Parts: sequence; structure tokens; C-alpha cells
Amino acid sequence: MSTALITGASSGIGKAFAQQLAARNTNLVLVARSQEKLYQLTKELQENFHIDIEIIVKDLTEPHAAQTVFDTIQAKGLTIDLLINNAGFGDYGDFASSDGDKQVKIVQLNILALVDLTHKFLPLMRQRQSGSIINVSSITAFQPMPYLSVYAASKAFIVSFSQALWAENRAYGIRVLVTCPGPIETNFFTQANFPPSLAGSTEQMFTSEEVVQQSLKALDNWQPAVVIGDVKTQIRTILARIVPRKILLNMLARSFKS
Ligand SMILES: NC(=O)c1ccc[n+]([C@@H]2O[C@H](COP(=O)([O-])OP(=O)(O)OC[C@H]3O[C@@H](n4cnc5c(N)ncnc54)[C@H](OP(=O)(O)O)[C@@H]3O)[C@@H](O)[C@H]2O)c1
Repeated sequence: MSTALITGASSGIGKAFAQQLAARNTNLVLVARSQEKLYQLTKELQENFHIDIEIIVKDLTEPHAAQTVFDTIQAKGLTIDLLINNAGFGDYGDFASSDGDKQVKIVQLNILALVDLTHKFLPLMRQRQSGSIINVSSITAFQPMPYLSVYAASKAFIVSFSQALWAENRAYGIRVLVTCPGPIETNFFTQANFPPSLAGSTEQMFTSEEVVQQSLKALDNWQPAVVIGDVKTQIRTILARIVPRKILLNMLARSFKS
């Protein structure tokens, strides 16, 4: 049986990954800060599936968090076949007047923890010549996002980083996928203090289950990236590349100002 490590497994997309991988007979290591939610999820999954589940309660913005996660897994003698770097958050608002500590925490979680965990588990996958990594980015990665500036930049980092790793590791039998969902029904918008009037955009909201299904399918097909959303979401990613920057940025600033 293979084992998947999922960060941000206590809710939303991470929880859906845990549920669908459990149904595929995959052992799980679940990481997040909310101990009670992780216990509840473990109980639910173990009632339905014969799999092993380990919980690591950790704030991944803490210094050396990835090392602690790695050491805990090594001490238990577990092999991670699938690493899912999913934990992430954003913060809506004007950067200059925002909480600076929160902006730094976005970088610590969305970028540093992801890079650090990947750097710890990838060499072991290389030795075994097998393994997979899914990094959860977003369609906000494809253009700068006024009023979500650090979040969108962090997601752009994940796309670039993951695709480079896809190319570096293919020959070693290791798959790296970056998944870029459009708007998904989760706690994300509340956590990010996103104004409700803007959260209900004209794009269709997808579910976490759809994100997981499409991501696992893309991973099976050795795709480097997948964009998950309706036609408007897909068109938005293309427009971001062809509309002149000044026009695009002014349009985005107008649409996303509260
Ligand atoms: N929802 C969307 O529209 C959307 C679209 C594109 C991409 N995404 C991305 O999808 C990923 C999952 O988000 P979601 O939509 O499922 O939102 P969510 O329901 O808020 O889930 C976020 C997860 O990250 C965990 N987390 C947050 N801060 C953490 C920390 N400091 N240390 C460890 N874990 C932490 C949370 O657990 P605890 O609070 O228990 O720690 C939770 O399990 C994120 O990377 C997000 O950027 C979301």
C-alpha cells in the first residue's frame, strides 16, 4: 500500500484529497493545526476504509516545521509515495495598510514550507526512482492580483517551481503536478477576509471533490499542470497572457477593489 502526506488536510481541498485517496486504499499522513478536525477526519475514514492514518499537528509557518514533519515520519519508518503540498491561505486587502506579519506568514506557508517539504522528500523518491508530488497553486498564479498581491505572487512561484521540477524529475520516474483551481467552495474566502460581493464572481464555483478528481487524473497522465474551472476560468488564464499589462492591471484593480 502506498502512503500520501497531505498538508492542510483538516478542511476543503486537503480533506477531499484525504477522502478520495483513502477510497483508493492509500495510507495517509495528515498535517494541519486543527487537532480536533484531524481526529474527526481520521475517525470517519477509519470507519470506512482499512488504512493506516498518522496525524501531525503542526503550524507550517513555524521555523523548522518541515524538518519536524520529516523527522516524525522518519521516526515512524514511513515512506511517502505521494506528497501533496496543499496548505495555503491568502489575505484580501491593500498591501500597504495590511498586517505585515500575516503577509510574511503567507510566504512562509505557501512558499517556504512547500519548498522545504519538497526538498526533504524528493531525494528519497529519487533513490527509489518513484514517487509523486502535487503542489496546489491557483488560477491567481497567472496574473498579478491587486488586493491579493502576496497570495497571487506565492501561487505564481508554485507554478514556476513545480513545472521546473516536473522536467528535472521525469527521467527518474517521479511525477510533479501543479494544480491550479479557479474558485472552489471552501473556507478559503472567509479566511482571506474576501468581500462576499467579490467572492461570488461570474465564474462557476467548483467543489473540492472535483479539484481532487481532476488532479489525480492529471497526475496519472503525467501532466505538469492542470487548470480547474469553467470556460470563463480557462479563458481568464489565456487573456492574462495576451492582454497588455497596463490594461490588464487596471481592469483587475477595478474588479477587485472592495
Ligand atoms: N478555495 C479556493 O477558491 C482555492 C482556489 C485555488 C487554490 N486554492 C488553494 O487550495 C489550498 C487549500 O485551500 P482550501 O481552499 O481548501 O481552504 P481551507 O478550507 O481554508 O483549507 C486550508 C488548509 O490549510 C491549513 N492551514 C492553514 N494554515 C496553516 C498553517 N499555518 N499550518 C498548517 N496548515 C495550515 C488549514 O488547516 P488548519 O487551519 O487546521 O491549520 C486547512 O486544512 C490552498 O493552498 C489554497 O490557496 C483554493
